[in-house]
Amino acid sequence: MTTSNVGPWARDKLDRLQKYLQAYTTIMRKQSWCEGFFYIDAFAGPGMHEVRRDGPRLKAQNALLDVANFGQEQLEQREFLSGSPRVALDLEHPFSAYVFVEKNSDRVAQLEQLKTQYGAERRIVIRQEDCNRYLLQRVVANEKINWKQNRAVVFLDPFGMQVEWATLEALAATKAIEVFLNFPVGMAIQRLLLRNPEKFTKAQRAKLDGYFGSPDWFNVLYKKRKTLFGDETEKIDQSGEALLKWYRGRLRAAFGHVSRASLIRNTRAGHLYYLLLASPSRTGVKIADHILGAGEWI
Ligand SMILES: C[S@@+](CC[C@H](N)C(=O)[O-])C[C@H]1O[C@@H](n2cnc3c(N)ncnc32)[C@H](O)[C@@H]1O
Repeated sequence: MTTSNVGPWARDKLDRLQKYLQAYTTIMRKQSWCEGFFYIDAFAGPGMHEVRRDGPRLKAQNALLDVANFGQEQLEQREFLSGSPRVALDLEHPFSAYVFVEKNSDRVAQLEQLKTQYGAERRIVIRQEDCNRYLLQRVVANEKINWKQNRAVVFLDPFGMQVEWATLEALAATKAIEVFLNFPVGMAIQRLLLRNPEKFTKAQRAKLDGYFGSPDWFNVLYKKRKTLFGDETEKIDQSGEALLKWYRGRLRAAFGHVSRASLIRNTRAGHLYYLLLASPSRTGVKIADHILGAGEWI
């Protein structure tokens, strides 16, 4: 089985998710009109992670331990963290049912163990497939679900740019599904946004168009500048913030409401991603604003 290693910042992400889901289930269980409210973890992972000890801190500890001649076991203290599926399963007031979507077969096997562990206490479905396909075909296009009387939270927590805009748009059109979203602007997206736009390949531009659902990202990020040799097009400074602002506007137009975006950094203070909620519910976004507004946000 593969072990999943996460940076210490994953605690912050999961803590905010837990707080939001707790508030959501506390409210939804009191809605007598609601037949069911579901948690769909579209990038579920294995359900348990090992936390990476960050470099400088561990080095300092090791140096200290060498001097004090401590044993190897102290150097190897390991810390584990419940992943998002467990966070949702362990809520005080559970969801009506849980769907965990995951592409990797080792992780699916770990999720199956998790399902066994929770037994009859929780209704759990595990699907091994691409989450865009699952969400479009089995959730949005599923005629057996009456979205007037059912609700769902979809957690979208990719490593990269796997969430297609078409998927978000379809989820928003139900007017019953909200998304708690990882916008990986410091990770996957910036890597694709070249300083010199002339170097973009067709495939790179198509990937970005599919992710943002529009070619307008280009006009948001690239501006003409006068130089001695004529006009040159260059990527703007603060491109991450500009892109987030524009993307939030698109989410608001699709879902109705969008929360503040909480910045998650790595241990060297580099930007990793933003967490935010897009929802048809003003109340949901008010709650998320409170949870995501603690710390650094836009
Ligand atoms: C960042 S991890 C998820 C971590 C998890 N949400 C947590 O907090 O515990 C992303 C996971 O998504 C899976 N994945 C990647 N692309 C996917 C796709 N298109 N559909 C479903 N799962 C995918 C990866 O195998 C990986 O386990």
